[in-house]
Amino acid sequence: MIAIIDFGSQTTHLISRRLKELGISYKILPPEGIVRKINKKTNKGIILSGGPSSVYAKNAPTIDSQIFSLDIPMLGICYGFQLAALLLGGKVINGKKEYGPSQFKIQNSKFKITDGLSKSFRVWMSHGDEIIKLPKGFKIIGSTEHVPFAFAADFKKKIFGVQFHPEVEHTEFGKEIFKNFIYMCDMKIQNHVLDIKKIEKEIKEKVGKTYVIGAVSGGVDSTVASVLTAKAIGRKFIPVYVDNGLMRDGTREHLKKIFAHINIKLRIINAQKETLKKLKGVSDPEKKRVLIGKSYIKIFEREMKRLKKQKIKAEFLLQGTIYSDVIESGAQRSPAEALAKGDKGAIHAARIKSHHNVGGLPKNMKLKLLEPVRNYYKDEVREIGRRLDLPSEFTEKQPFPGPGFAIRIRGEVTETRLKKQKKADNIILEELKKAKILEKVFLSFPVLTNAFSTAVKGDGRVFGEVIALRVVESNDVMTSSWAKIPYEVLQRISSRIVNEVQGVSRVVYDITTKPPATMEWE
Ligand code: XMP
Repeated sequence: MIAIIDFGSQTTHLISRRLKELGISYKILPPEGIVRKINKKTNKGIILSGGPSSVYAKNAPTIDSQIFSLDIPMLGICYGFQLAALLLGGKVINGKKEYGPSQFKIQNSKFKITDGLSKSFRVWMSHGDEIIKLPKGFKIIGSTEHVPFAFAADFKKKIFGVQFHPEVEHTEFGKEIFKNFIYMCDMKIQNHVLDIKKIEKEIKEKVGKTYVIGAVSGGVDSTVASVLTAKAIGRKFIPVYVDNGLMRDGTREHLKKIFAHINIKLRIINAQKETLKKLKGVSDPEKKRVLIGKSYIKIFEREMKRLKKQKIKAEFLLQGTIYSDVIESGAQRSPAEALAKGDKGAIHAARIKSHHNVGGLPKNMKLKLLEPVRNYYKDEVREIGRRLDLPSEFTEKQPFPGPGFAIRIRGEVTETRLKKQKKADNIILEELKKAKILEKVFLSFPVLTNAFSTAVKGDGRVFGEVIALRVVESNDVMTSSWAKIPYEVLQRISSRIVNEVQGVSRVVYDITTKPPATMEWE
């Protein structure tokens, strides 16, 4: 197997994912005491992950230099490369910062590690430090405009380093780099299988004789989690939709369709007024998330008590949490807790947002969590759905965040602003659907920016809100690019929003990649 040493990158888990796809076993390990943990017989390769620190920062994670004498092929990624370079006698400075796409050019292609790579390809960068001198024995494989040592190696010792992130989907030829590295490790590539029967068996065993309340939203993740649970425990699964008014129009109807399809009764709870009351006067994004999470769980606990009166003992709450939710809420848990819970990728990761289905949950929650798709990625969850023969309208739906429109409205969430948001959202969905773009993008939505600007409508001056349009393409969720929508479609969306949505003066298009910008604005 390959040992992945985790320095806290948001994308460490994507490294494991690439290995998983290639049928390679791996173990994610913290850097502390690493040399003792490496077994030369079973560890065929070592990957040093990226990380949010600077190598010179106080308390920056490091490794014992003995690791370089173990004679095991090694691949350092971003921080992992910088740390290896520093420990081996190179020089790293707090240099040019780069986040997002860059063009990589190969200078030296005579080695196996470059097999199958194009002479020039797009790579995704996310770094603040820069290597300015390679250690002795290292040779350049290729550079980008700003980074001379973007890919380098000590071929004799089989130590490779990349400044970019080959694990993210926006880096072209990333998979080939891993394949070539695996070849260097003397390992064989195999096909990875998704074992649906195993997931169902695990649900059955975990739940035992009790009942499961399902938090369903109509999204792909909770739908697939529901179908798996329904298959495993049948009518002991009670799906509940809490309509807090923050979801897209048509969500109720969509949910009714899903549960009619699997022949399970759905319970709908109206909680619009209750939720809006809780959000009154709240502008802070994290506060919004936590408040929505808390009120959501309260409603489920009420539901649990109601069922108890009917002698139905519900012990679990089903959630459609997926792996990227866990990673982005990472630092909610200490490294030890993360390891104990099996969230290996979250060990050193910085907290980005408290996704309400992970970080925003109250600590004293009475229901235990059942999260059957927690270890899977969005595209894997979609694939499970397809293999369960679910119609494409259930599996190809755009993701929608748990806290819903609340995190797409900057500032306070009021009924009037929600109406504005929904109207603009529907216009965007309609126009993208008409232009046959909707099915190709990962997310599309308006943001009520809380910024105001002047417009002239009719003959009068209006000082109205600016709406930002965000449309992104992604598969791995950790990286995204903005969709190159034809100008005519952008024009139609803009005209319709300023004409049809009251109080809007202007529409702007968000052209920022992730990283650095997250997809959602809050
Ligand atoms: P970001 O904004 O982190 O979004 O780049 C990545 C994906 O996560 C979704 N997202 C959330 N989902 N609760 C959720 O259930 C949240 O608090 C939350 N915040 C972001 C986002 O919609 C995208 O699909």
